Amino acid sequence: MNLRINSFEQYQHDYRKSISNPALFWDEIASEFQWKKKWTNTLNWNFEEPKIEWFKDGKLNITENLLDRHLEKNGNKIAFHWEANNPGKKSKSITYQELYQEVCKLSNGLKSLGVQKGDRICIYMPMIIESVVAILACARIGAVHSIIFAGFSSNALADRINDAQAKIILTSDGLNRADKKVDLKEMVDSALESCSSVEHVIVFDCIHSQPNMLKDRDIDYHELIKNQSAHCEAEEMDAEDMLFILYTSGSTGKPKGVVHTCAGYMVYVAYSFQNVFQYEENDIFWCTADIGWITGHSYTVYGPLLSGATSVLFEGVPTYPDAGRFWQIIDKFKVTQFYTAPTAIRSLMTFDERLIEKQDLSSLKLIGSVGEPINEEAWNWFFQKIGKSNCPLIDTWWQTETGGVMLSGLGGLSPMKPTYAGLPLPGINPTLLDAEGNEITSPNTEGYLCIKTPWPSMIRTTFGDHERCKLTYFSHFKGYYFTGDGAKRDENGMYRIIGRVDDVINVSGHRFGTAEIEDAINKNKYATESAVVGYPHAIKGQGIYAYVVVNTEMEDESKIIRSIIESVNQHIGKIAKPDKIQIVKGLPKTRSGKIMRRILRKIAEGESTNFGDTSTLLDPSLLDDIIEGAK
Ligand code: WTA
Repeated sequence: MNLRINSFEQYQHDYRKSISNPALFWDEIASEFQWKKKWTNTLNWNFEEPKIEWFKDGKLNITENLLDRHLEKNGNKIAFHWEANNPGKKSKSITYQELYQEVCKLSNGLKSLGVQKGDRICIYMPMIIESVVAILACARIGAVHSIIFAGFSSNALADRINDAQAKIILTSDGLNRADKKVDLKEMVDSALESCSSVEHVIVFDCIHSQPNMLKDRDIDYHELIKNQSAHCEAEEMDAEDMLFILYTSGSTGKPKGVVHTCAGYMVYVAYSFQNVFQYEENDIFWCTADIGWITGHSYTVYGPLLSGATSVLFEGVPTYPDAGRFWQIIDKFKVTQFYTAPTAIRSLMTFDERLIEKQDLSSLKLIGSVGEPINEEAWNWFFQKIGKSNCPLIDTWWQTETGGVMLSGLGGLSPMKPTYAGLPLPGINPTLLDAEGNEITSPNTEGYLCIKTPWPSMIRTTFGDHERCKLTYFSHFKGYYFTGDGAKRDENGMYRIIGRVDDVINVSGHRFGTAEIEDAINKNKYATESAVVGYPHAIKGQGIYAYVVVNTEMEDESKIIRSIIESVNQHIGKIAKPDKIQIVKGLPKTRSGKIMRRILRKIAEGESTNFGDTSTLLDPSLLDDIIEGAK
């Protein structure tokens, strides 16, 4: 299946075609896949409800497209080279044939537990091959997977399990992270104290910690698959059946379950993978994203496998045992495409360059960035030091909700401009709107980034709450999908992402709603009220700044702060730890009781004057205290 565009002229041609006749365009691409039954209608949509249907009445199973169809010609091709956290541990490789068998065994194991099409299964696992097996086993039998990043706490896990009403949890006893071990099973046990939907927990032995196994509920992964057949018929799925739910943060309330469906997601993820990375048959692809995030779903797992690619799967972190680990892995496996996040680049930039020079990076053909704006300094460093100034650097903009890359160069075919994600992929119809909802036509003018027409892998709904999907994405500007990002476009049509325009912050490429962190803080016994904002952070992109009003006059402020951090750990996870916590007497509010975040953001940025209009402030004297405290 070759979906690749080979020249910039072809890109321009295909782009025009995709916009003037999307149905025809996607019809041809979808025909490259293996279907159990062909669709009758390529696209049905309206953005009011919203209702989006791609490839109506088509029947398929995504795993037949990413496993079975490769077996005859490429059964012995490596699907993944797995690299352990500990560099002393031997790496492992798995072929497409072996992956197929492992997936089938687990699929049969899940069926033996009574799992049926449509049931939800939460996966809370490390970066190991069995996690990929778990994902694909769900897809094979039509169960809906919901992966929860293994850095989330037991409370966050419980929230997601309950929202998805999951029947099964797939986890491991623990995970290896740098020189530490994290006990995942214990997290699951404590989460399940408040989750009644779960019938079984399947536990993979990863760190040999021999966890407590609850009789009748907990099942050893190996025991479950031991006697299962290595063949399992793939469930016939409707094009629009759910493939997975992935929870992500928004401006308000709890994280919402973004729903992706079988056919559209498959088609767009494979198409974007092959084009953005200019994938060729013998490439060794490496996306460093954890499977718990959308980048891991689309470009660590689904995109490469759909294309029959060989990828690297890395269990560890970029700085263990030292900050040369990424470069060493690229050298070891002769990686051709390397795709990572700006936060990793900014952190690795600060280390001794001899760590890079020691390794041979000449296998690289392309390098890519994802998850947050990449600043010019990091862009140049990545391009020069890692790409040796002769690999195209693609800056890919997209979201959990978009399923696949939306704005990006196509490998070296497209023009490149530091800090600009670039042009839209074929099939993607972006625009910038002003506050009144008018399309901005003049170049270099900032606006709200919206998408005018549907693309195959777009969000269909938020699980269990369609109204929320409508309100969040389709109500700000009637008739448009609103991304939540601000952007501008140059005279050549290239887009530069400015950042979120809502109360979402992006910390090391991880998305958090400020409300979600405030919620966790407010559960602390000392906290009365809090306001969380993002501020520029040299490595993380944005740091978390929390202003907290407390109910006690304790001498030891650091004790309160430690306790607040502990609450955030408990309710979300260590990944959301505030970088700065400032205890304040009160929060600046308007007369109508609204917290003036604009001002708090400025103070967090180090500003002490120029707050703009403060006339609506209820108690202006509070500001001086807060500014003083911030120093
Ligand atoms: C931000 C990650 C600038 C953006 C794939 C978006 C980016 C949010 C880029 C989605 C980029 C992602 N340049 N900003 N190349 N890529 N973002 O859902 O604010 O974890 O809305 O998806 O990350 O984050 P999410």
